[in-house]
Amino acid sequence: MGEAESKQAHMNLAVFLTADGNYHHLGWRHPDAWVDGGSNFQRWIEFAKIAEAGKLDMLFIADQIAIVGGDDLDAITNSSKVNRLEPMTLLSALAGLTKNIGLAATAATSYSEPYTVARMFASLDHISGGRAGWNCVTGGQKEEAQNFSLERHQAHADRYERANEFADVVMGLWDSFDADALLYDKASGQFFDPSKIHTLNHKGKYFSVKGPLNASRSPQGRPVVIQAGGSDATVSMGSRIADVVFTAQADLQAAQTFYRQVKEAAVGHGRAPGDVKVMPGLSVFVGQTREEAQAKFDALHSMVDVADAIRGLSLLLGGVDLSGYDPDGPMPALEGNDLRMSGPGTFVRIGREKNYTLGQVAVQSKAARNHCLIVGDAKDVADHMEHWFREGGADGFNLLPPIMPGSLQDFCDLVVPELQQRGLFRTEYEGPTLREIMGLKAP
Ligand SMILES: Cc1cc2nc3c(=O)[nH]c(=O)nc-3n(C[C@H](O)[C@H](O)[C@H](O)COP(=O)(O)O)c2cc1C
Repeated sequence: MGEAESKQAHMNLAVFLTADGNYHHLGWRHPDAWVDGGSNFQRWIEFAKIAEAGKLDMLFIADQIAIVGGDDLDAITNSSKVNRLEPMTLLSALAGLTKNIGLAATAATSYSEPYTVARMFASLDHISGGRAGWNCVTGGQKEEAQNFSLERHQAHADRYERANEFADVVMGLWDSFDADALLYDKASGQFFDPSKIHTLNHKGKYFSVKGPLNASRSPQGRPVVIQAGGSDATVSMGSRIADVVFTAQADLQAAQTFYRQVKEAAVGHGRAPGDVKVMPGLSVFVGQTREEAQAKFDALHSMVDVADAIRGLSLLLGGVDLSGYDPDGPMPALEGNDLRMSGPGTFVRIGREKNYTLGQVAVQSKAARNHCLIVGDAKDVADHMEHWFREGGADGFNLLPPIMPGSLQDFCDLVVPELQQRGLFRTEYEGPTLREIMGLKAP
């Protein structure tokens, strides 16, 4: 499949931020953590500045349109994820205060209309000068369904079928205007050339969208499309429609399998392997020394209560009942379910690989969910990243900073220079658009 030739020289790096920014469930309780990012825009300006100074590809805002676990607020009083800024509003404001970094956010297909999403991201692409990215996920929680006039979530297969059609409509709408459709001809009075604006006339199983979009072709033509997940549905949809696939992979072997699946499926869709970047998540605790990094990790983990962590894991897996299992016993062999198809399997794998009990898997999930977690000095972290990058597990990483802003600052101060020294990461941004930065083809 020409993997060696298509492999890029630099890795891609995104920073995953959500709600208050702290990825670790109890990150907000760390003495140095900022606690009010859920409503304080000034914090986000700082987050973006740090990431941009570190030359990261993009700042990505994950989102849920509900308080997950909100049925029992008493049980989640330690969660900072109850308060968050609406991502498109936030990114639009950040666009004016940043220059180079990509600005990406989730808009779930189950609770929106393709016209709305196409329009929002085309606008963000214009406002940011070509730095917009859309994370096209289906949404995964019953609390979200209940905020959008639904009893429960749609079945997994239906959600993905709808999402595939949704994405096709969005991309079709983004192609409404040719780049030279607007004439602005004051003399003739012709504002646009009608032959250069195209009506979509989409009629499908889920959507009927006439078009055209009432927005001109944006700087990237099409904003960067991300798809996040790990199941077969993600492999088939991500490889077809996405420029970037975000995923949670706990170890290199699983990451390699997933990476290969996505690339092969992309080739099956007539694309080149390099047309879709695979970026697993990575939770990094880094210090000047290993001891310092370990102390940072221990300080957070000592706060985690095992019973609370198991309750959280249950929520994370879409409500799987874990109450009957011994916290000190082995991780039970959970199957995927309608809300989370791939997640349970990854947690089972973490238990097996690390010989962790259910309690230990749950505690680790507070820091990294089902993503890979690394504790060490800059060299350890860079070694790990280089290994995954060179061994066909990743084109780059989606960083999950446990404590904000400290963890992101640590990464940019300590790990970025180490990666740059190894020729694995840029020292200057490659271009004004996110596609250019990421080494993605123009559509
Ligand atoms: C890095 C990453 C980011 C994600 N971001 C979101 C998000 O912002 N909102 C959301 O509802 N789901 C998000 N998801 C969840 C996925 O869309 C998906 O529901 C989950 O990975 C389970 O997928 P599966 O059922 O196909 O295995 C994210 C997943 C990953 C790996």
